Order: sequence, then structure tokens, then C-alpha cells
Amino acid sequence: MAETPTKNATLTIDDQSYDLPMYSPTAGPDVLDIRKLYAQAGVFTYDPGFTSTASCDSTITFIDGDKGELLHRGYPIDQLAEKSHYLEVCYLLLYGELPSAAELEKFENTITRHTMLHEQMQYFFRGFRRDAHPMATMVGVVGAMSAFYHDSTDIKDPKQREIASHRLIAKMPTIAAWAYKYSIGQPFVYPRNDLSYAANFLHMCFSVPAEPYHVNPILSRAMDRIFTLHADHEQNASTSTVRLASSSGANPFACIAAGIACLWGPAHGGANQACLEMLKEIGTPDRIPEFIARAKDKNDPFRLMGFGHRVYKNFDPRATVMKQSADEVLDLLGIENNPILATAKELEKQALEDPYFAEKKLFPNVDFYSGIILEAMGFPTSMFTPIFALSRTVGWVSQWKEQLADPQHKIGRPRQLYLGSTARDYTDIETR
Ligand code: CMC
Repeated sequence: MAETPTKNATLTIDDQSYDLPMYSPTAGPDVLDIRKLYAQAGVFTYDPGFTSTASCDSTITFIDGDKGELLHRGYPIDQLAEKSHYLEVCYLLLYGELPSAAELEKFENTITRHTMLHEQMQYFFRGFRRDAHPMATMVGVVGAMSAFYHDSTDIKDPKQREIASHRLIAKMPTIAAWAYKYSIGQPFVYPRNDLSYAANFLHMCFSVPAEPYHVNPILSRAMDRIFTLHADHEQNASTSTVRLASSSGANPFACIAAGIACLWGPAHGGANQACLEMLKEIGTPDRIPEFIARAKDKNDPFRLMGFGHRVYKNFDPRATVMKQSADEVLDLLGIENNPILATAKELEKQALEDPYFAEKKLFPNVDFYSGIILEAMGFPTSMFTPIFALSRTVGWVSQWKEQLADPQHKIGRPRQLYLGSTARDYTDIETR
């Protein structure tokens, strides 16, 4: 924690002044410390949606929304997407530095050897209805991990925290793939430890016992890049949910299940599914103006899915990589003239030229192009958000570990601006 203030701000309330310390981060705007404000001045601050509130200090990920920059431990996301791969990025997020060759080999070995699930966990999957959304299954099964892995639930023990982190990163692809297999009535496919992280996920999703399955290297590279682009995104809603759940001392699996639940919503990770469904509904480029008009209409709740972001007021750098990747993957797979990609590109063009989107600084986000790639790979839309969840697990886990390693962390407990009734006497039902 940057405990040494670099300057002070003064707040005056009714002729009384209060000094508030300010900190200068290594990047980003200065931060005003209001932790003692209530004790000193007897007032709360009001910031629903946390638009101006830093909920913690962190050294993991930094976003400059005006520049459209995303850094993991200082490394730009476009460099990581091009030159690195998902498990190396996982190591970077978890431990703060890029690994040496020996460190990476050891880490990959550890993750690879934790991919299987306790056999009894199959009954959890089988307990769900066949038509359950894979995200519903994931919330339940990940929460249930706390009942199976007792030796990694003591959050006070750094070794147990480490084991829980590795287990979550290693087992999440198996959980997501099995949620999918169950939903389509196919047998669960066990992990193969001779495959890379991404290739193994594709194997568990698409192979069947009846015939051999060969992972297409183009698809496994594209899958790995999608994982990398979603790995972390500082204090977003699901990460903040994980941190808040963890602040009470809850076990790691319960905290990550809470993160998955939060990610599901269409304003967050659920936007990738909603975006592809929207693009399909638009269907052809000639219908775009109708949908743009709806997105601008204050009386219509419709929004352009995959557009806009709380932090980015410029291009989302993940969307830029994702768009290139969509072109490459469809090209390499020999999918020509994909009408959805054509609609997406035309929608992006028309929206960016429209004063409404320009004034509000609404640009395509990571979810705008990812669904096109995932669909080309053979995934149904219901699997898009589970893939986001499995990719983001390392971010949740890294932030969770950082929080617990901080001796100053305390339970998260926001205050409120109360606008309800003041104290009043209970009335008997006959007199109401
Ligand atoms: N289409 C049309 N108008 C929009 C959109 C959109 N996609 N996004 C924001 N606006 C408008 C909004 O109506 C508001 O207008 P006004 O100021 O006139 O009331 C203004 O832009 C600001 O919007 P906001 O809802 O106050 O902004 P926010 O920071 O609270 O919301 C957001 C950010 C991502 C929830 C929002 O842009 C949105 O709903 N986008 C669509 C869903 C989506 O793509 N989500 C994925 C986010 S990226 C992946 C992830 O990290 O989860």
C-alpha cells in the first residue's frame, strides 16, 4: 500500500476543514484517502457503481481508458497476445514476473497434473437439468469444489492458497467442458495431459469416444489467444465480487463461484452471448440503421451489445486483437464471406461514424468479435460466457491472493444514503 501521502486535499464542511491525504499511483490518477472521513467529519461519500472509488490497491493490472491501454504487470496486452501464451500470462499475473524457462515448465506441469476432477463431482453435473445453462452448472460445481478439496480451503495458510489457485486454473476447463458435454447429452471426456491447456479444452469439448479427435492447431492457437485476452481486467464487477466475498474469509471456491455468478450478467461477461445473438437478429447489413436507431432511443432499453465500457473511452485494445483474430481464424478455416462478420464490421463502422456513439465515447469492447471466432470454432452461444469465466479465473485468483496477502485487508462493508422511513411504531394487522 502506498502509505506515504504525496499531497493533501482539504474538504470544507460548514466552516470546518479536514485534511485528506492523497497518494500518487505508479500510473493513473491520484487517489484521495477518505478512510478516516466518517470518524473525523461524520459524513459518508456517495458513489453507487463505484465510478470514482478505488476499492483496493493492486499491482496486477492497469487500464488507461482514455488511451485504450491494458497492462498486465506492466506488459501491454497486444504484446502478450502476440508473443506469449495463456499459461505464461497466468504465471505473470499470479507471481508478478515473466517466468524463466524452468519456472514455466514447472508451472505448466503443476497445472497439467491438476486437471482431473474428483470422480464424485460427476454427480453434481448429473443433478442439473439437461437444458441448464452451462453458467448455472459452473456456479454450482465450482462452489461445490469446497466440499471436495478440504486441503485447500484454509485461507490463512499461504500453501493452501497456492494449491487452491492451481486447482482452480487447472480444473476450470474440465468443469466448463463437462458443463457443455452434459448440456448436449454426450459423455464426459477426461483431460489429456499431453495436450496444451487450450488444446486439452478443445479435446474435452469436441471429442467423442466413438472416433479419434485431432485438435486443429489453428483453433488451439485461437483458443489460447481468447483465454489470454480475457485473463484479467483489474477491479471489474466480477473481480470486485470475488474480493468482497473473500473479505469475509469465505473459502476460495465459494469466492470464485460468486465471481462466476456476477460475470454471467449481460452488462459484463454475458455480453458475448448477447452480442452474437444481436448480430444474428440484425442478420444483414441493411438492417443496421434500424438497430442503431433503437440503441439511441431513450425509450427503448435496447443497447448495442459489445459496445461501450465503464473504463475505456477509446478502443478496447482486446477488441482490436480480437477483430484481427476473427479475420485470421475465419480465413484459415476457409470460411469465406461470413455474413455475421460482415454485419459486425459494418455495424462497427456505422456506429463509430454516428455522433451519439462518438459523443458518449462508445467503442467496440472485447465481446464484440469474440463470439464470431467461438462460433466458427463450433461453440454454441451458451458456451461463450463459460469460456470467459474459465479465462478470467486466473485474474480472480491473482486478485484474491493479493488481497489475502495484504495484512491490512478488512471486510468490505459499504455504507448507504438511506432514504427510507425513519423509526415508526408497528401497527397490528387489524388496524392497517
Ligand atoms: N448502446 C447504446 N448506448 C449505450 C451503450 C450501448 N452499448 N453503452 C452505454 N450507452 C449509453 C448509455 O445509455 C448512457 O447514455 P446517457 O448518458 O445518455 O444516459 C451512456 O452511454 C453511458 O452509459 P452507462 O450505462 O452510464 O455507462 P456504464 O459505464 O455504467 O456502462 C456498460 C458500461 C459496459 C455496462 C455499457 O456500455 C453497456 O451496457 N454496454 C453493453 C453491454 C456490453 O457490451 N458489456 C460488456 C462490457 S466489456 C466485457 C467486460 O469486461 O465485462
